[in-house]
Amino acid sequence: MSRVFITGSADGLGLMAGQLLARQGHAVTLHARNDRRADDARRALPSAEAIVTGDLTTIAGMRQVAAAADATGRFDAVIHNAGIGYREPRRVETDDGLEHVFAVNVLAPYLLTALIEPPARLVYLSSGMHRGGRADLADPQWTRRPWDGAQAYSDSKLFDVVLAFAVARLWPDVLSNAMTPGWVPTKMGGPGAPDDMSLAPVTQTWLAVSTAPEAMVSGEFFYHQKPRPANPAARDVTVQNRLVRYCADLTSTELDR
Ligand SMILES: NC(=O)c1ccc[n+]([C@@H]2O[C@H](COP(=O)([O-])OP(=O)(O)OC[C@H]3O[C@@H](n4cnc5c(N)ncnc54)[C@H](OP(=O)(O)O)[C@@H]3O)[C@@H](O)[C@H]2O)c1
Repeated sequence: MSRVFITGSADGLGLMAGQLLARQGHAVTLHARNDRRADDARRALPSAEAIVTGDLTTIAGMRQVAAAADATGRFDAVIHNAGIGYREPRRVETDDGLEHVFAVNVLAPYLLTALIEPPARLVYLSSGMHRGGRADLADPQWTRRPWDGAQAYSDSKLFDVVLAFAVARLWPDVLSNAMTPGWVPTKMGGPGAPDDMSLAPVTQTWLAVSTAPEAMVSGEFFYHQKPRPANPAARDVTVQNRLVRYCADLTSTELDR
């Protein structure tokens, strides 16, 4: 039995992953943005060990989530699942002055990774769209470019792979991988999404708990339990270090311990 924490798990793939792990006998801690969503999560998975609340839009909210999660005890695995989508129609600035897709999709997994006591395994939800992402950090907060929601999402999902691979390199005793669930009809994916919903929560749970040798690797990108090539930028140590430094400066929190 493993203890697994899943961010953004009041709904969608996070909840599905929690339900799948619970059916397998694992102890699942869910996460919801507020008390109302925590009630929804509790109803959807009454057997959840705990439900952590906090809005990942702000650095203060990210810190709240990390502290509340840590207070429940050490996890065997954390699945960084919370995310916002590729249809964001405009640039939204958070209370910290950050662009909100970057804040939720990139800075939150960075800061939670840095603050939560390291588990044995980390899984980062990326997307096939990461392949069209740009990793140059030339304008990560979209203050100079005209807004392009699909590009902002692609960039953020590339940064998730960069982060997963950076952690794999910096923390050799932790298994850290990124994956795509496919394009599936959740709230984010939309009703026309073509991929197989029944497979969508499988790979992240498998990477979190399976003892199969294929799942006990680090620094890989997966789709439906198979390793797939990632955007080559994610393996570039200069890119990794630049992202980690940027996030560390934004949060005044180092990844290195
Ligand atoms: N669906 C797809 O086709 C697809 C494809 C590739 C990758 N992915 C990735 O899979 C992950 C899960 O996506 P999904 O399809 O399950 O999306 P979803 O149905 O929209 O669920 C996203 C979850 O994240 C939570 N969340 C979003 N912003 C948050 C915030 N500021 N604070 C706290 N929680 C927040 C949402 O909470 P609320 O429900 O309260 O909003 C929800 O529980 C994402 O990282 C996404 O990028 C999805």
